[in-house]
Amino acid sequence: MKHRILQVGCGGISNSWLKIFANRKNIEIVGLVDINKNAAYNKKNEYNLECEIFDNLNTAIKATIPDIVIDNTIPEAHRNVVITALESGCHVFGEKPLADTFENAAEMVKKANDTQKSYFVVQNRRYLKHIRAYKNIIESGAIGDLGYLTANFHLGPHFGGFRDAMDSPLILDMSIHTFDQARLISGSDPISVYCHEFNPPGSWYNGSASACCIFEMTGNMVFSYNGSWCAVGNETSWQSEWRAMGSLGTAIWDGENSPFYEKAIKKEGDNSRREFERITPEYEYNSEEGHAGCINDMLRAVEENREAETDCKDNIKSFAMVMAAIKSSKEGRKVYMREIC
Ligand SMILES: NC(=O)c1ccc[n+]([C@@H]2O[C@H](COP(=O)([O-])OP(=O)(O)OC[C@H]3O[C@@H](n4cnc5c(N)ncnc54)[C@H](O)[C@@H]3O)[C@@H](O)[C@H]2O)c1
Repeated sequence: MKHRILQVGCGGISNSWLKIFANRKNIEIVGLVDINKNAAYNKKNEYNLECEIFDNLNTAIKATIPDIVIDNTIPEAHRNVVITALESGCHVFGEKPLADTFENAAEMVKKANDTQKSYFVVQNRRYLKHIRAYKNIIESGAIGDLGYLTANFHLGPHFGGFRDAMDSPLILDMSIHTFDQARLISGSDPISVYCHEFNPPGSWYNGSASACCIFEMTGNMVFSYNGSWCAVGNETSWQSEWRAMGSLGTAIWDGENSPFYEKAIKKEGDNSRREFERITPEYEYNSEEGHAGCINDMLRAVEENREAETDCKDNIKSFAMVMAAIKSSKEGRKVYMREIC
């Protein structure tokens, strides 16, 4: 099956998509759209594309009749791009976050349902062999019942652009990755959150670039998150660094290298349990990683007429964690997911 693709938004992240599409025989890029036409022309030249350039999505859809619209615009534009594309009979593969507000997200999910078209959201940090091995440790019961999962995310990128002006750049633009990873790793969904956002000394962002969150999750589990986008020195991985505590042991993943877990070695007549064995898990994930892995899943889902792993109906649960965290931070109290969903 050959897919006719219309790419909307030709900024930084569009390179991650266009590079992948350039190597696929089953992809035809039929148009590039950007409100800044020069950005679209630059991508056309960079990737040697023979396609038309537009600054209006409706016009572009009418002229090119795509099957799939790729939404690589900024979060505030996602609602209009996705609704327009779905109403025009196209599937949408979009960049995270699903939307900029929960109301918009709910409307987009409903529109996908009503039009019987797919809206899949990229969560590239799920499609990694190490996180799949880490998830398998927990899913297999190797560390017993999971009671506590924690993630540290400390980086200091100087992006400039839309992130520097956002009220909640870390939580709205980045923590969606970590929150979505927490759902994948634990197999749990959120119940409530308490979040404290702040902007520490030395931050170059206008909004709150740091946050601490405590989520109550299903399965009697707690997930905590400490994050900063203005950390100077000793940076963590973009995948966060993780500790999962189970009733029988602890699993660690630094976000970059192979995860492992430790269990107590029980000795005859000795109940002190002070010695531990360290075990590296088996690997089962053999696919491409990151954007390529997620895009493969989305294309196969369209071809097989099924939902991708990151279908908007599931991804909205990760997005709800973001929105509930922002509400909690604004109102200075614990927020239940049912208050926003
Ligand atoms: N998955 C990841 O790891 C990852 C990494 C970076 C960015 N992102 C996401 O990708 C999206 C884009 O981020 P970016 O860094 O490429 O931003 P960017 O500012 O570099 O590019 C956005 C582009 O969209 C265009 N645009 C804005 N509104 C538009 C509209 N209504 N119609 C058409 N074009 C429009 C802008 O002119 C710009 O060229 C964001 O949602 C961001 O969160 C994801």
